[in-house]
Amino acid sequence: MEVNHVRGVLFDLDGVITDTAKFHFMAWQKMAATLSIAIDEEFNETLKGVSRLDSLRRITALGGITLTHQDEERLMADKNATYLEYLETLGSKDILPGIMEFIEELRKFNIKIGVASISRNAPFILNKLNLTRYIDGVANPEHVKHSKPAPDIFLEGARLIDTPLRYCIGIEDSLAGIQSIRSANIRSIGVGVEGDITIATTNELSMELFKKFK
Ligand code: BG6
Ligand code: MG
Repeated sequence: MEVNHVRGVLFDLDGVITDTAKFHFMAWQKMAATLSIAIDEEFNETLKGVSRLDSLRRITALGGITLTHQDEERLMADKNATYLEYLETLGSKDILPGIMEFIEELRKFNIKIGVASISRNAPFILNKLNLTRYIDGVANPEHVKHSKPAPDIFLEGARLIDTPLRYCIGIEDSLAGIQSIRSANIRSIGVGVEGDITIATTNELSMELFKKFK
């Protein structure tokens, strides 16, 4: 594939641009403890790329409990407040290795950059990382009907950066995310997860990789 056939790159945020999984984990763990439910790191893996509400429901299902809508709302708000406390110290230092260089390379070649995360905290996190000015569009999860693995958020990202799907690339670290990219008919790069192209770490991201697409 010609490198110049890529006109837009859609990044997932958590696990691709920065590693917030540990903060999500600690915040969920604290919330789950109030319900006497214990979660471990292995269980946390299954929450990657999963929306806030679906994550809560997976946790309560683990504990064998069903909550009222009101309790769900309250617990999600509590969890998010804890999560935001943990994010207080987030800064440019927390951008994952190779991401800044890759973004600069993309900008040099006028390739559009979008973020397709289902995190409602995405704009806040991008600001903390000092990345907002490099991004052409951040898909708002509240503007899409279905969360990952449905294609909605990547389709919304592509629309925002005004790039036809066939010229887009999506980058993801979660299984739900790769499924989302695939069902949007976008080519994928998987970081630590199998994509059309698979890499082990973000350090391997570069436009050279695009040549590997069929
Ligand atoms: C995803 C994370 O990016 O966003 C999930 O991988 C998280 O762990 C989801 O639950 C929703 O994030 P937020 O910030 O809106 O609670
Ligand atoms: Mg992710």
